[in-house]
Amino acid sequence: MTTLGVIGAGRWGGNWIRTLAALPGAQLRWVCDVSAASLERIRTQLPDVHTTTRLGDLLEDDQLDGIVIATIAPTHFDLARQALGARKHVLIEKPMTLSTNDALELTDLAQRQLCVLMVGHLLEYHPIIHHIRRMIESGELGELRYLYQQRLNLGTIRADENAWWSLAPHDISVANRLMGTAPISVQCRGQNIVNPHVADVVFATLAYPGGRLANVHVSWLDPHKSRKLVVVGSRKMVIFDDAAEHKLIVVDKGFECKNGTITLRQGETTHPHVDAGEPLALEAQHFFDCIRTGRRPISDGLAGALVVSVLEHGQRSMDQDGVVVPIPAFLGTLRKSA
Ligand SMILES: NC(=O)c1ccc[n+]([C@@H]2O[C@H](COP(=O)([O-])OP(=O)(O)OC[C@H]3O[C@@H](n4cnc5c(N)ncnc54)[C@H](O)[C@@H]3O)[C@@H](O)[C@H]2O)c1
Repeated sequence: MTTLGVIGAGRWGGNWIRTLAALPGAQLRWVCDVSAASLERIRTQLPDVHTTTRLGDLLEDDQLDGIVIATIAPTHFDLARQALGARKHVLIEKPMTLSTNDALELTDLAQRQLCVLMVGHLLEYHPIIHHIRRMIESGELGELRYLYQQRLNLGTIRADENAWWSLAPHDISVANRLMGTAPISVQCRGQNIVNPHVADVVFATLAYPGGRLANVHVSWLDPHKSRKLVVVGSRKMVIFDDAAEHKLIVVDKGFECKNGTITLRQGETTHPHVDAGEPLALEAQHFFDCIRTGRRPISDGLAGALVVSVLEHGQRSMDQDGVVVPIPAFLGTLRKSA
């Protein structure tokens, strides 16, 4: 039996608690939160789970294997450092940390402690993203030309972090995964509307090797609820719309260039069936499997550090009204597909 704990029983932590309590072969042993009221709620729902406001209770428990950190971002680094120091396997919610150096320090510490370090890049565990990745790797889409993503909604408006840090980690992790590498620069513009110092809407462009672009548009001040990804390849194009009836659409359209003449190819549109699966349950299962087998997670510490690096450099770009900011190549390779 693999035993797990959760730190942070807030809005998202509640989903983790529900998911881990139902994970076959695992035992949810601890829930820790600084809020006694949140813990009271957990005790009512899950009377067999230990609850505490003291982090030390989890770190000193020799029977505890792994910890999910689902607190607010400024606390991630310190909590993860302590958990890894106590030889616990750790999953940190996005964004992994607030600085690349902190993320790399955790990656290094996890390696020295022989612990799994995973980051909660939820979309990397979405069956449709997995399917699109396979279409790219098998050559079905042809060469990946560009992609764009939208993550839009009306609310939750945050004052403690902007829409770039709050929403874009998912889109950046997907762009890196589908491009199969790290971006070389980022350009980012944000607009502060509700709060004078917090960007509620952000438009960003990541440039990848080979001149390929990924555009990310995030906002919590938009009339649409939209979670959309469009990938344009040289052979086919793909639309993933999480709010639509047909979530995945594959379009056999493009252009042909023969003897200097360009013609458009208007092929068929299909809606491939992809087996459903709740991304959070799949992500939890992956963390559990990595703990048991010692495998390197798909969204490991380096993948998390890379996303934080893009966030940091994107913030620099935003602070300078959208100048293009190069992203230094400091990282090892992203893990290949599962
Ligand atoms: N992967 C996803 O799709 C997804 C979705 C939403 C949120 N998140 C991430 O999950 C994390 C939590 O977000 P949320 O919306 O649940 O926030 P929240 O504010 O609702 O909950 C945070 C909880 O952490 C507790 N907490 C804060 N500091 C603590 C500490 N030092 N020790 C113990 N408990 C502490 C708070 O009391 C609160 O209950 C954030 O990193 C957020 O970005 C991820």
